[in-house]
Amino acid sequence: MTPERIDLIVDGTPASLDAPPEMPLLWALRHGLGHTGPKFGCGMALCGACTVFVDGKPVRACVTPLGSVAGQAITTIEGLDDAVGAAVQAAWAAASVPQCGYCQAGQVMGAVALLRATKQPSDAQIDDAMRGHLCRCGAYPRIRAAIHAAAAQLATPTATPTATPTAGPP
Ligand code: FES
Ligand code: FES
Repeated sequence: MTPERIDLIVDGTPASLDAPPEMPLLWALRHGLGHTGPKFGCGMALCGACTVFVDGKPVRACVTPLGSVAGQAITTIEGLDDAVGAAVQAAWAAASVPQCGYCQAGQVMGAVALLRATKQPSDAQIDDAMRGHLCRCGAYPRIRAAIHAAAAQLATPTATPTATPTAGPP
């Protein structure tokens, strides 16, 4: 694997590194550029812990070759600065969603992607969209409640986010 100079835009800031194009984007973000929000979980696109946005679309950074995203805009959880990102993170805090926290950056990215596409998702739509985001602590009921709370807050921006967990999927 021969290093090349690869340019990216990460959380709105231009960044460059010398790395093999085959290197997973997650490695480049965490170890090359110091963006430790995305986490390594499975390394096989199975758990969602490494989720980032590439030009606004969620991808699993652990299986995305760095060279395939050269020149594109990468957003990590640290760069979620729009209304949806703010509402989701506020709802997460209000509902005390995280337990150990390891999966949570990926969960938040998944929730933001969902709410950008679907303003008022049903339980079934939430479960379907979040199926690829695994949580060993079983925070699923709080995740679902926080997504509903964020959706309500976005629909009524003056409302204070509240969330009441209900039974969710295992
Ligand atoms: S670490 Fe990428 S999906 Fe699990
Ligand atoms: S909060 Fe611990 S793995 Fe999800």
